[in-house]
Amino acid sequence: MPNLWYSFVYSATEALNRLMLDVPEQTVFALIRTYGGIFGVAYLLYWIGVVTYRLTLHPLAHIPGPFLCRIGSLQQCYFEAILNGRFLERFPEYHRKYGPVVRISPNEVHLNDSSMYHEIYKNNSMFTKDATSYALGVSEAMAFTVSVDKHRQKRKTLDPNFSKSRVALMEDGLYKELELVFDRITEYEQRGEPVPGDIISRYLFGKSLGLVSSSNFVERAEQMRSFTKGIWIAIHFQFIRNTLLVLPRWILAYLSDTFVKVLWFTEGLAQQAIQDFNMQEALAKSPIDETIFDRLLIDSARRQASGKDLRPLHFRELADEIAGILNAGTEPTATMLSYATYFWLKFPHVQSRVLEELASVQHVKDRLPLQQLENLPYFTGFVKESLRYMPLVPGRLPRTVPLGEGLYVPSTKQTIPPGSVVGMSHLAIHFDPDIFEQPDEFRPERWIGEQGKALNRWLLSFSKGRTDCIGKTLAYAEMHLILANLVTRFELELTPNGHKDMVWLDRVIVHSGQSLRVMVKSKRG
Ligand code: HEM
Repeated sequence: MPNLWYSFVYSATEALNRLMLDVPEQTVFALIRTYGGIFGVAYLLYWIGVVTYRLTLHPLAHIPGPFLCRIGSLQQCYFEAILNGRFLERFPEYHRKYGPVVRISPNEVHLNDSSMYHEIYKNNSMFTKDATSYALGVSEAMAFTVSVDKHRQKRKTLDPNFSKSRVALMEDGLYKELELVFDRITEYEQRGEPVPGDIISRYLFGKSLGLVSSSNFVERAEQMRSFTKGIWIAIHFQFIRNTLLVLPRWILAYLSDTFVKVLWFTEGLAQQAIQDFNMQEALAKSPIDETIFDRLLIDSARRQASGKDLRPLHFRELADEIAGILNAGTEPTATMLSYATYFWLKFPHVQSRVLEELASVQHVKDRLPLQQLENLPYFTGFVKESLRYMPLVPGRLPRTVPLGEGLYVPSTKQTIPPGSVVGMSHLAIHFDPDIFEQPDEFRPERWIGEQGKALNRWLLSFSKGRTDCIGKTLAYAEMHLILANLVTRFELELTPNGHKDMVWLDRVIVHSGQSLRVMVKSKRG
């Protein structure tokens, strides 16, 4: 290091000398050495001060944790951004060593105390999404909105699009798309090739949402799936993300064609929607024809008319919302479906009981009706057990403790002060033996009856409370319809590498190492 410093100073001196030939060499060298030295010492003192503060006077100084986590974010950054999502797997060891409350970075705490979950993620929660973790470039989308009031308003506007009755109306459309998917699966069967798992997401999600009127919505939804590849880098190196976002689009397109295509796509849709919007026509639409654009623009016009808003909805807000829905509504369901299909094959003991139940369903127009499927206890148990066994967000959803008294943790008698960030791993709760008896076993029957109903409180795959998944009813419907039709129409078999391919990676949301591939054989002959 001293050699490096010396050669830097020497080269700088040489450069300056060439510019300022009349200044004696020794003087310039001495100046650089002096000011460089002062700067270096000041920088060192600054960091000694910061580290001392974090270990002594910082509001979280009393919370135990690994030394490197208490003094800086390097440890977290290394395991999350550099090793791409390997921080979560360290938590069990941290909690064994330091107890249920562990400081995982200077301002963040991880809790391993299931009783605290519903304190943080509840309906009237004032805990907000951690601004740093949720600043991913689509800040106007509801899913990334930090302010409680702003989030509530957006959620109130969008909730009707995802209601139970609205989802029921989608059944016919879902079935039409499903038939196309099964035609494609049959083509794979005829060629004797394994079916790639993503075929379902490519053909079904997005279109089945019926929420955004665009022919190439599905294609873009596919491109969106690659977004989470760099998510840890985006979270930890915000300057990289911010720089990318302000770069001229042609440079950005050179760096990431996919990213720019999605941006252009959502912005184009939003601009067009604003241009075409006609209040009377939008109000006259039936619920099934109404898009998210209609809902947002109607709400904006009403708020303006009542004086609650001064300006109309900006296209940026519309574009971000669509990008958020595009992301949240496609990849999660596709991933969950891959894992549920994998669990079907990995735990064959569930198959006969599920098939028996499905055989009892009365077909209507040659279809298995959604409502009947959702009332099958063991089959619904299979869907829920799949969601428990592989929670889509296995890690924590970081929340900022609101102003007030802080978050008191009775089990350790510690208080996490306002302004700190807290989070709880879903995976840890889904495998907590105090909640789920023999959690390592895949047991759909645990969800049946009164006991099963009580467990619903602990199925956290869609999160809970004010910011839970707005699309959960739709996701349940999609999972029931697709799985029921898949297992009644086809015999499935895992390809030789199947187990290895499904080893999961934490990219904030779960990813399998490879796409699930299964061999299929039609049961209908
Ligand atoms: C099996 C499928 C799904 C799972 C497991 C899932 C899971 C989740 C989770 C855990 C959250 C909370 C994220 C957070 O707080 O950061 C969330 C939020 C969200 N999800 Fe889903 N999701 C699924 C499907 C869907 C679908 C189909 C849609 C819409 C079409 C959707 C739209 C959203 C939106 C918009 C949010 C943000 C909600 C808010 O901030 O109020 N999700 N989802």
